[in-house]
Amino acid sequence: MAKRGWANWAALVAASLALAVTGASSLARTGHAGPGPLAYTADGRAIPPRNYREWVFLTSGMDMNYEDIVPGNDPHVFDNVFVDPAAYAVFRRTGHWPEGTVLVKESRQGLTKGSINKAGQFQSEAVAAVELHVKDTRRFGGWAFFDVVDGKPAKMLPKTEDCHACHGDHGAVDSTFVQFYPTLVGIARAKGTFRN
Ligand code: HEC
Repeated sequence: MAKRGWANWAALVAASLALAVTGASSLARTGHAGPGPLAYTADGRAIPPRNYREWVFLTSGMDMNYEDIVPGNDPHVFDNVFVDPAAYAVFRRTGHWPEGTVLVKESRQGLTKGSINKAGQFQSEAVAAVELHVKDTRRFGGWAFFDVVDGKPAKMLPKTEDCHACHGDHGAVDSTFVQFYPTLVGIARAKGTFRN
């Protein structure tokens, strides 16, 4: 009898744990998950991915600027670009970004004085800016941009922001700047998706 009581109790605990787990994941799924790794708050703000530093590294651009200006660009800035691994795998196979693709651009200041360094630049520990570029046609009618402030959920930037115009006009593949991501250039050319 006592044994049976234990078994029932264990079964009950197991069942409620299972319920809690499936309950939580179906909430995330039906609630606010996108087709890729990004999730959204109830009011549609993108929850910034915490682990993007473990995604696929595409480039570190240094002091890139899109206007003819600033001799002696100071302080220096590095832009580190990452893409989620599932999207990267599809891109390698097809040269196209799938629904749900998330690209992250993280900016860090360039520093020269530190430890044994005497020349050249290394990256600050502090992050200066994080921006997202997300493909979700059902939710956004195509790609959306986000400016993440202090790691907080971010509202989509309006379509009128110059992000869309510049990326759309000059990005080599589907509004992304593949021309500056050295390991992707050859793939996109081979798959015929690279636009000059
Ligand atoms: C005048 C052109 C221009 C404008 C405007 C612009 N970008 Fe970009 N963006 C670039 C270039 C060039 C790169 C490649 C950067 C690199 O290699 O570091 C890039 C890369 C990115 C990436 C990495 C993924 C990708 O799409 O290639 C993100 C994210 C991004 N930009 C966000 C933004 C956001 C958000 C805005 C608007 C607030 C914006 N950009 C406005 C030129 C632009």
